[in-house]
This record gives sequence, structure tokens and C-alpha cells, in this order.
Amino acid sequence: MECHGPAGEGDATNFYPRVAGQHYLYLLRQMHDMRRGKRRNANPEMWEVSKDDRDEDIQVVIDDMSRLPSDG
Ligand code: HEM
Repeated sequence: MECHGPAGEGDATNFYPRVAGQHYLYLLRQMHDMRRGKRRNANPEMWEVSKDDRDEDIQVVIDDMSRLPSDG
């Protein structure tokens, strides 16, 4: 909410990417890579807030993001 926006619309000024409507498997893979240190450009604060989350909880959040309308 704070960074990617309440509707997943992103924030161009701060370079926070839009996540609404992005493919589920794509988003899941980004999170997977970030959490395991494979995606080196990961935002440190984002890594901090998500590092201890269970994989199952991440899947739920990502599923929700992928279902947000991307045209609004
Ligand atoms: C648990 C909460 C969060 C989830 C599930 C999440 C999810 C994601 C996903 C899936 C991406 C990849 C998007 C893409 O490659 O198109 C991403 C990137 C990004 N997120 Fe988040 N995010 C979260 C919290 C945050 C927070 C709190 C911040 C800001 C402090 C943030 C800032 C960023 C930035 C700058 C990127 C692009 C660079 C990068 O890979 O780090 N995110 N986020």
C-alpha cells in the first residue's frame, strides 16, 4: 500500500513499479528471487518487510496483486 499504492498502481516519482494486473507467475518469481538474494536490485526496505513472511502468505498477496485491474 505504502509503496506500490492502494490499487497497485505504483509511484513513478519514486520508481515503485505498478504491480496491478501483472502476471501471477511473473510477480511470484520476482518475490522468490528477491527473498533469496538472486534479484540484486531489490529495494532494501521491501526485502526487510517481506523476508520473514511465509511463502504461502506471499502467494496470497501476489495473487491479490495480479487480480487488481491494471487500467485504473
Ligand atoms: C510485502 C509487501 C510488498 C510486496 C508483496 C511487493 C511486491 C513487489 C514485486 C512483486 C515487485 C517486482 C515488480 C516487477 O518486477 O515488475 C516489487 C518491486 C519493487 N518494490 Fe515492492 N513489494 C512490497 C513492499 C514494498 C515496499 C514497502 C517498498 C518501498 C519501500 C517497495 C518498493 C519496491 C521497488 C522500489 C521495487 C522495484 C525494484 C525492486 O525490485 O526492489 N515494495 N515489489
